[in-house]
Amino acid sequence: MIFEQLFDTKSSTYTYIISSGKGREALIIDPVIEHSDEYLKVLKNLELKLVKVIDTHIHADHVSGLNELNKRTNCTRIMGERSKSEVIDLKIKDSEKIEIENIKLEAMYTPGHTDCSYSYLMNDRVFTGDTLLINGTGRTDFQSGSPHDAYDSLFNRLLKLPENTLVYPAHDYNGKKNSTIENERNNNPRLQVSSKEEYAEIMNNLNLSNPKMMDIAVPANLKGLTLDQL
Ligand SMILES: [Fe+2]
Repeated sequence: MIFEQLFDTKSSTYTYIISSGKGREALIIDPVIEHSDEYLKVLKNLELKLVKVIDTHIHADHVSGLNELNKRTNCTRIMGERSKSEVIDLKIKDSEKIEIENIKLEAMYTPGHTDCSYSYLMNDRVFTGDTLLINGTGRTDFQSGSPHDAYDSLFNRLLKLPENTLVYPAHDYNGKKNSTIENERNNNPRLQVSSKEEYAEIMNNLNLSNPKMMDIAVPANLKGLTLDQL
């Protein structure tokens, strides 16, 4: 299997390029628009055909590469059915599967960071977007976020996955590349709570400032802008 984890230093975003092998179909999760050329170069070097691109949610800290990649490769843009994007080609439901040659991803609706947040389970690993981060969890104070929904997504969905499931988040701010469900359950400070109310109390008192790119990124991602439209 080809599994490339790329990093955007500006927004600390992880992007994933996945394929069953050289010369086969590929999909990309959470691309950042400024790196479109770099992704296309990786695809070319491995003779991959990009057929699907997925955003885990509408990002507020960077402009998504979905639309630029769609323009240049005609790949299918995918998000969960709750996405408010105006340009998504395929909106999928909880438990639905996304397939390319020999690769299968199962969508899990995991709202809370936003109401359009989905995670994607692929065999031994799960792409958690901003729902579950390494030693952290996604903020819940904008884009229809809800700490109560986040608690349910974390405790009743993601943490119920097998404990050795690898966790691949949409961001990391400390250079960590992956974790496991077991490690997060035992060590993630946000998850050491005994009730939904306790979790909501923590999340409602983070007092974070808005992401710098928010006013540009959110409208651009809802409208589906490409590089020449930014
Ligand atoms: Fe986010």
